[in-house]
Amino acid sequence: MKRTLIALNAFCKHLILLLRPHAWLGFLRNPLLFFSNTLALSRWIARQPKTEFNDFPVLKRNYNKRYDLYRYVAGQYSLLDIPADYLEFGVFGGRSFEWWVKANTNSDSRFYGFDTFEGLPEKWGVFFGKGDMYADVPSLSDHRAKFVKGLFQDTLVPFLQEHPMHNNRRKIIHLDADLFSSTLFALSTLYPYLKKGDILFFDEFNVPNHEFQALRIFTEAFYVQTELVGAVNNYYQVAVVVI
Ligand SMILES: C[S@@+](CC[C@H](N)C(=O)[O-])C[C@H]1O[C@@H](n2cnc3c(N)ncnc32)[C@H](O)[C@@H]1O
Repeated sequence: MKRTLIALNAFCKHLILLLRPHAWLGFLRNPLLFFSNTLALSRWIARQPKTEFNDFPVLKRNYNKRYDLYRYVAGQYSLLDIPADYLEFGVFGGRSFEWWVKANTNSDSRFYGFDTFEGLPEKWGVFFGKGDMYADVPSLSDHRAKFVKGLFQDTLVPFLQEHPMHNNRRKIIHLDADLFSSTLFALSTLYPYLKKGDILFFDEFNVPNHEFQALRIFTEAFYVQTELVGAVNNYYQVAVVVI
């Protein structure tokens, strides 16, 4: 019986591939992926521990609430006094980056901001095209801060070779590149350096096919576990801790 089912399964698969379904059903790929990732996001939310810092459900999105999230998480983990390694992926004009540089006053902290500074490397959703979010490298006069210009895919590996991460430090990793590819690349490349207690912030988390999908695939493929610390704007911005 089992052998028959396996043979039938193989036959159907071969038949489907022979019919070249992408040519006439290809338009369904994105909506189906979106639907599947939305179900996965809903399940992810349901499995998170309750946190006192979560405004879900809320009617209106207020982008400034992300700073309340930073403050809350910083308070929970004393992130503003410790010497921290802060890595931000997706700097644009530098607003979130500057918040952390100003807020964490420890002279031993290090802040690294990664961006092409030439805009998104590919289109994001329907409203943002390749090259959108172009910004000059921010000018910031703090010797603890450094910007790394270029595609993460080109800069992150050499950066990590030149700047060994401090093993005894809690890392604050801010994933704000919007894109699935960029977020997954950053998470996967940082995997060997991740440790329990590291904090991950996401800025566009509830976009199912992008930052959420990247965290889902990363945690499933690398057997990494995280749990929610706080969320604002209906999970648009979230913070999770590696457990
Ligand atoms: C939403 S913006 C960042 C916003 C910023 N954190 C803030 O708070 O204002 C996203 C940025 O990610 C950058 N980005 C996306 N994918 C990238 C990649 N693979 N390599 C380098 N930069 C990337 C884009 O250039 C863009 O500036």
